[in-house]
Amino acid sequence: MKEKPTFYISTPIYYPSDKLHIGHAYCTVAADAIARYKRQVGYDVYFLTGSDEHGQKIERVALQNGETPKQYVDRIVDGFHALWKLLDISNDDFVRTTDDYHVKSVQKIFRKLYDQGDIYKSTYTGHYCTPCESFWLERQLVDGNCPDCGRPTEMVEEESYFFKMSKYADRLIAHIKEHPEFIQPPSRTNEMLQNFLLPGLEDLCVSRTSFKWGIPVDFDDKHVVYVWLDALSNYITKLGFYSDDDSLYRKYWPADVHLVGKEIVRFHSIIWPIMLMALGEPLPKQVFGHGWLVLDGGKMSKSKGNVVDPVKLCERYGVDAIRYFLLREVPFGADGVFNNEALINRINSDLANDLGNLLSRTVAMIGKYFDGEVPSPTTPVEAEDEPVLSLAKGLTAAVQGHMDALKLPEALMEIWKLIGACNKYIDVTAPWILAREKENHPRLGTVLYNLAESLRFVAVSLKPFLTTTPAKMFEQLGVNDEALCSIESLADFGGLKPGTKVSKGEALFPRIDVEKELKELEEQTLLAQAAAAAPAASEEVKLPETLPEIEYDDFAKLDLRLAKVTACELVKRSKKLLKLTLKVGDEERTVVSGIRDFYEPDQLVGKTVVLVANLKPITLCGIESRGMILCASDEGDTKLTALTTMEPFEDGLKVR
Ligand code: MSP
Repeated sequence: MKEKPTFYISTPIYYPSDKLHIGHAYCTVAADAIARYKRQVGYDVYFLTGSDEHGQKIERVALQNGETPKQYVDRIVDGFHALWKLLDISNDDFVRTTDDYHVKSVQKIFRKLYDQGDIYKSTYTGHYCTPCESFWLERQLVDGNCPDCGRPTEMVEEESYFFKMSKYADRLIAHIKEHPEFIQPPSRTNEMLQNFLLPGLEDLCVSRTSFKWGIPVDFDDKHVVYVWLDALSNYITKLGFYSDDDSLYRKYWPADVHLVGKEIVRFHSIIWPIMLMALGEPLPKQVFGHGWLVLDGGKMSKSKGNVVDPVKLCERYGVDAIRYFLLREVPFGADGVFNNEALINRINSDLANDLGNLLSRTVAMIGKYFDGEVPSPTTPVEAEDEPVLSLAKGLTAAVQGHMDALKLPEALMEIWKLIGACNKYIDVTAPWILAREKENHPRLGTVLYNLAESLRFVAVSLKPFLTTTPAKMFEQLGVNDEALCSIESLADFGGLKPGTKVSKGEALFPRIDVEKELKELEEQTLLAQAAAAAPAASEEVKLPETLPEIEYDDFAKLDLRLAKVTACELVKRSKKLLKLTLKVGDEERTVVSGIRDFYEPDQLVGKTVVLVANLKPITLCGIESRGMILCASDEGDTKLTALTTMEPFEDGLKVR
């Protein structure tokens, strides 16, 4: 038997740093639809997703929760599995970067690159954005902040291993130019070339020593492997790369598509291919950068209410409605807006009206006029039949064209063109009028046959996108022969056998009362926000979760001092920073503080503040900051006050 061609698709591996939201679900549902489609058209598919569990960010969050990093990631990753199950994600494998095979393989990769001289030891001094786990050059910062997330970076100075990215830059540029399909959509190719590759690649810092939660470099275990080197390797470690059994690697690599969000295309189309080049392995065929799902009025976040929780959305509207919305609403490659109204409108118009009504009307008419048995199409083709017949016959090719280009909404639109034509067909042929005249019954039979057969075409074509609806449609259409549910059966219009017994079922998608629903959602969101903002009156007011206990000796390591602000000015090139001159006893110090949003420089002059005097100096926007002043603020830094004394007090005194 001829072997099936292979197709390997991956999603990014997700950080277990928070609950997954509908934006994360978007990428995984899209990858799932592509994987299901490829299986449907005869590929041997390998679909991989997973979790990216190392790094400073995770170490810090776990600590804040009073858990070990491993306890923390285990707990969160359980939630990933539950969500992917709920959304009917058909991944073939799930990789965890804390798994043993992954750790071992990454250590071997690191050692190989070191042995061949592509990794070397030096000292890293520069900016690091912990939330993004990214290194940045001074010139890349925007107003002194991370250019990706806008948050302040930290200045780090550490002994580190470096990866000679620069050595491979020309080869990568040539590869990108020779393979225009490598980075998609094309606009992202330009972005990578113009913003990163053509200005010149610096060598990349690929190890850290200031925290422990990572894969140890096995020949120098003071160092842990940089989290992106660790994470990117997942695409091959799960296939057994550098293990005793690398059969999956030999079978599926190179990947056909790495589907990733636009902000991480950079890692996938620069660092990852260079790692592979250095290892002498083939590059993935494509990195596809999709856009983001954004909320009305801004980026998605938990504080916007609970309706963006994919679990809640699925409970309320059903999994297929959510899958449909995600795949249909967001132009693939661009950003899309999520709001309740758009979701409900899609459900009502596309799913309940267009598709659901078409099925129920067709089944009802076959029930009424032909005792529930699909009639024979005995009359010659008429002009009115043409649109439906030609759209149905051309459907597989049209869907294929879009799916090959990963244009998922366009593929769905093709299916909806046929659905739309069928609805129009009912209007123009008016079966209820044909039914009045006995002599018109053969024509009525043809019309209803064409509708039922078209609905079978629709159900088969929807299988990659919706996971329960096609089966419900087959049931109502009486199709229980597996062969008639296959894509091959769409080669000819006419597979549905006359005489097949149809059966009326429940509405595929019940219509939603928009006004009532929106009001209810609004109330729920307000309630959720209120609950998040204030504890219930009857509840004992609890302190927010605190960090784990420490010994007095740990506290005593802090040298806290009173300091008098003698001068304060804005920092050029930064919207967030103020430069404070402090008198601490006999000493004068400069401290840079990110409190520009809350104070004008004049407001601080003359105040007595609390200084962490023995904090390692860092350089921010070219100014050396020696220490940090203490402030109190809320989680999102929306309000802040600098700590000061009840009355002016002598600077230099110890705070204890
Ligand atoms: N762990 C890294 C990826 C390593 S891959 C070797 C990471 N994780 S993440 O959890 O922060 O993001 C995972 C994916 O979710 C990214 O592709 C990101 O673009 C995507 N999304 C996060 N929020 C999103 C939206 N609001 N909309 C669409 N995709 C979103 O980055």
